Amino acid sequence: MSGVHVSTTINGDAVEFVCQPGEVLLDVLRNRVGLTGAKEGCGTGDCGACSVTVDGRLVCACLVLGAEVEGRAVNTVEGMANGNQLHPLQQKFIEHAALQCGICTPGFLVAAKALLDRNSDPTEEQIRYALAGNLCRCTGYDKIVRAVQAAAKDLAVDATKPAAKKKATKKPSKKSA
Ligand code: FES
Ligand code: FES
Repeated sequence: MSGVHVSTTINGDAVEFVCQPGEVLLDVLRNRVGLTGAKEGCGTGDCGACSVTVDGRLVCACLVLGAEVEGRAVNTVEGMANGNQLHPLQQKFIEHAALQCGICTPGFLVAAKALLDRNSDPTEEQIRYALAGNLCRCTGYDKIVRAVQAAAKDLAVDATKPAAKKKATKKPSKKSA
């Protein structure tokens, strides 16, 4: 069967790959692009371990075809950190001992980020609802919810910083005038 050539954007980088028409995005990411953060827990859309976003929308990469991301923007857990600087969600997952195993955690992080990207101040109920598609068979979800709440607070503080910076940069220009 002839392959499908796909041009897309993954974590901000232009990426091209050739995949089979029936090949799911999860397999493309892991086996063709080398991004192994998204995991296969079930392969049937039930566990959330393969969570990624496509054009900002949370999806199960095991249910999306690789060919479907032509011209779209895909974001994976690998794109969350800024160089060596962890995303606030990653940092808070560590601080609140919310890190679970390597199978479920990437999906929780991606789903939580998708939530905070569209709702910067979610209630506990909204967090639990947003993460309802991410399953962990080993433990409770309380630490994860606390970590997401703490990250939301951090991000809210960060959001005020550009304004402060802007204010600070105004002073020198006034002096030079
Ligand atoms: S592997 Fe995709 S939802 Fe479980
Ligand atoms: S499935 Fe990952 S810790 Fe339970």
